[in-house]
Amino acid sequence: MKILVTGKNGQLGQQLQKQAPADITVIAHGRETLNVAHKEQVFAVLKQEQPDVVINAAAYTAVDKAESEVEQAHAINAHGPENLALACRELGIRLIHVSTDFVFDGKQSHPYQPGDTRKPLGVYGETKASGEEAIEAILPEAIIVRTAWVYDREGGNFATTMLRLMSERDQLGIVADQIGTPTWAGTLAQSLYKLAKNPEAKGMYHCTDAGAASWYDFAVAIYEEGKAAGLLPKDREVQIGPIATSDYPTPATRPSYSVLDKTRLVADTGLAPKHWRQVLREVLISQ
Ligand SMILES: NC(=O)c1ccc[n+]([C@@H]2O[C@H](COP(=O)([O-])OP(=O)(O)OC[C@H]3O[C@@H](n4cnc5c(N)ncnc54)[C@H](OP(=O)(O)O)[C@@H]3O)[C@@H](O)[C@H]2O)c1
Repeated sequence: MKILVTGKNGQLGQQLQKQAPADITVIAHGRETLNVAHKEQVFAVLKQEQPDVVINAAAYTAVDKAESEVEQAHAINAHGPENLALACRELGIRLIHVSTDFVFDGKQSHPYQPGDTRKPLGVYGETKASGEEAIEAILPEAIIVRTAWVYDREGGNFATTMLRLMSERDQLGIVADQIGTPTWAGTLAQSLYKLAKNPEAKGMYHCTDAGAASWYDFAVAIYEEGKAAGLLPKDREVQIGPIATSDYPTPATRPSYSVLDKTRLVADTGLAPKHWRQVLREVLISQ
């Protein structure tokens, strides 16, 4: 099976290259060679590469910046998936697209189901919701996988930012009233390959690691596991305190609860999600 990955330099794009099973050939493109917002280029590259499956890991992910860069976010997150769906339909290619918990408003207090109503709170969520809708309209047999709170051992994400701040500051206040599930980019990559290998898989899925946490819980875990993994000195003391979302204003409003129900993913991949804290421990220990 030949799989074309877009957004090769992102967190997910990198893990898709690292986690590729032996029987899958991965062709990875970055923005330079495949800009998903450029319809002609999308058609030309897919025609030339002739993959069996496209995994769209490209996205505009700067949630706060999106509030002031609406057009750019829309071009990448809404027109990008639309272009890919049109090209995949014409060329007979399967499409796997990645979306976000930010399509929900977070007013619920139990895990969101794949079929729950989209109600985004900000520009990023709106543009990602539009991307989902475009794919559903153009290519209903496509797979859409929503994920949340993605991190990796490297790159710019909450875990690497926390480890840096914890080596620089003695006190940190972290938001404790937003609940979601920290998710390793590798977990997501492995799940996407399982879905790619299941010819029956189609429609909406949710994929995160298991469990639930606040950003405060995640930060405390990063501190403890970071020390255990030798990423922070054992004698380093940082006071980490819980704060309210209102104490840390941001341009974009975030859902206060966005735990995702993974029942459908488990049924169609056979993968049993591991608890986020166990995954974090393994990721921080690994080199
Ligand atoms: N990160 C999270 O916490 C999170 C949470 C929920 C859902 N998701 C979703 O998960 C997916 C993967 O996210 P991620 O964390 O891997 O994001 P990421 O690290 O920001 O990577 C996104 C990649 O897309 C590329 N890109 C941007 N515009 C492009 C374009 N027009 N054409 C082609 N490539 C383009 C970026 O390239 P440059 O490096 O050149 O900008 C970047 O390499 C996305 O769909 C995202 O919405 C992420």
